[in-house]
Amino acid sequence: MNAGLIGVGKFVPPHILTNEDLEKRMDTSDEWIRTMTGIEQRHIADDDTDTSHMAYQAAAKAIEDAGIQAEEIDLILVATVTPDRPFPSVATMLQEQLGAKHAAAMDISAACAGFMYGIVTAKQFIETNTYKNILVVGVEKLSKITDWEDRNTAVLFGDGAGAVVVGEVSEGRGILSFELGADGSGGKHLYQDEKLIMNGREVFKFAVRQMGESAVNVIEKAGLTKEDVDYLIPHQANIRIMEASRERLELPIEKMSKTIHNYGNTSAASIPISLVDDLADGKIKDDDVLVFVGFGGGLTWGAVCMRW
Ligand code: ACO
Repeated sequence: MNAGLIGVGKFVPPHILTNEDLEKRMDTSDEWIRTMTGIEQRHIADDDTDTSHMAYQAAAKAIEDAGIQAEEIDLILVATVTPDRPFPSVATMLQEQLGAKHAAAMDISAACAGFMYGIVTAKQFIETNTYKNILVVGVEKLSKITDWEDRNTAVLFGDGAGAVVVGEVSEGRGILSFELGADGSGGKHLYQDEKLIMNGREVFKFAVRQMGESAVNVIEKAGLTKEDVDYLIPHQANIRIMEASRERLELPIEKMSKTIHNYGNTSAASIPISLVDDLADGKIKDDDVLVFVGFGGGLTWGAVCMRW
């Protein structure tokens, strides 16, 4: 039995904050942000738009796209570092809002790699025939933990949600291989102490190395080679980090997802948001070999190779 993604959905809040808007608030420039990160704008949730609200919007679309009813969901996994509150979890709030009355529910805390942890966890339950439909959501309201006085971090992040339904797919398709990892000794480089604190250079060095390595590892584990890869969706943290992983796979530029200019770094939401946009733009076709790779605070990382 193979686990794959059978439905997708996303939500971003309507309010857009551009680099020019940030120029008015702090000592930065559109040119610096574009060149150093690739970001042009980000979506920011208003005070009334909680993480659970964004998660619900994305999840409802993914369920509809999968052609199932909320009652058919067996498990809800929500990857987030910005839950509405420490508990109850966003996943349980979502369970109620969706009317997914047969679903177990929990949040996953693995920062920007959280969505990878989520779909890999879902895969285990599907492939052991334990559950049939699992909702995995990556969602963040990073604006509420952003230090708007700190230009080193304030320009980087955005809010949004991406969701998938993981279920059974036909032989040879779906998630072919995965890698998850963690290095707690790097936790000091990226953490929340009321607001988000980051040693950008250290995170950058780690990300460039790990994204490339993990992407290569999952391709090998799937019994494939770099030439077999049709499309790469890296966590949208910084265009220079993304480019490093693309170069490691020797892929042409059009074979890498790039949505960071529109959304900034939406942490756990970035890969599923990109997936939704890339599908809508016709960049992913049936039977394509895809690689997803992410990293985040913890430090954590995760990658998946799948046949669409
Ligand atoms: N506008 C203008 N100048 C700035 C800004 C800004 N917004 N921010 C920093 N600078 C300045 C710095 O002060 C520094 O000036 P100096 O040379 O006079 O001291 C100069 O730009 C270079 O700064 P660095 O931090 O050394 O630049 P670097 O090449 O490291 O790029 C960046 C910074 C973009 C943050 C990069 O380090 C990066 O992307 N790191 C990884 C971030 C990341 O991916 N985080 C993931 C978070 S995931 C999660 O779990 C939430």
